[in-house]
Amino acid sequence: MASVPKLEIERLRDHEEARICARFMADSEPWLTLARSYEVSLGLITDPTREVYVARKEGRPVGFVILVVTGAFVGYVQSIAVDPEWRGRGIGTRILAFAEERILQMSPNVFVCVSSFNPDALRLYRRLGYEIVGELPDYIVRGHSEILMRKTTGPLAEFGEGDDA
Ligand SMILES: CC(C)(COP(=O)(O)OP(=O)(O)OC[C@H]1O[C@@H](n2cnc3c(N)ncnc32)[C@H](O)[C@@H]1OP(=O)(O)O)[C@@H](O)C(=O)NCCC(=O)NCCS
Repeated sequence: MASVPKLEIERLRDHEEARICARFMADSEPWLTLARSYEVSLGLITDPTREVYVARKEGRPVGFVILVVTGAFVGYVQSIAVDPEWRGRGIGTRILAFAEERILQMSPNVFVCVSSFNPDALRLYRRLGYEIVGELPDYIVRGHSEILMRKTTGPLAEFGEGDDA
């Protein structure tokens, strides 16, 4: 694998970045099969209830992640994508490590869903310590499952124990 480029990872800055990131998503699998249009992708990236972080190389977006940080499913990595030209060079791994660090401030569980037809992403998550905890058949489109994976540091009841000791 080529060397990992120098990156900064920060909150989404503006609508122009959102448009670039929406393109990474809408033009590529698994979202082509999941029929997620550019407009829907843009809506997810600009959803004010989400935290969106962008990885930039020399100021230009090369990847992003959308995190669910409120509600019943805190700690869910809703979407992650890297610029097709930059895939396979460690950027996704770096973005995920960043996302995990953010989520573990709030919860001991990091969740992600991977489409049943996306074995490359499944292998990446497994290598990073995620385990399959369930399967949602016909969840987004008929004929394909979403596979729910979790990486955990322990039970909820033990989370934060000793913080104020
Ligand atoms: C999945 C993704 C975010 C990983 O980011 P990345 O920078 O390519 O990944 P890294 O370089 O850190 O790690 C490489 C691993 O990712 C896997 N990978 C998954 N999808 C890939 C893709 N479309 N292109 C290249 N590598 C991909 C590779 O197989 C590799 O694992 P391996 O070494 O076991 O073969 C990125 O490839 C991507 O945007 N893919 C398309 C969208 C997607 O599948 N998102 C995940 C939805 S759950």
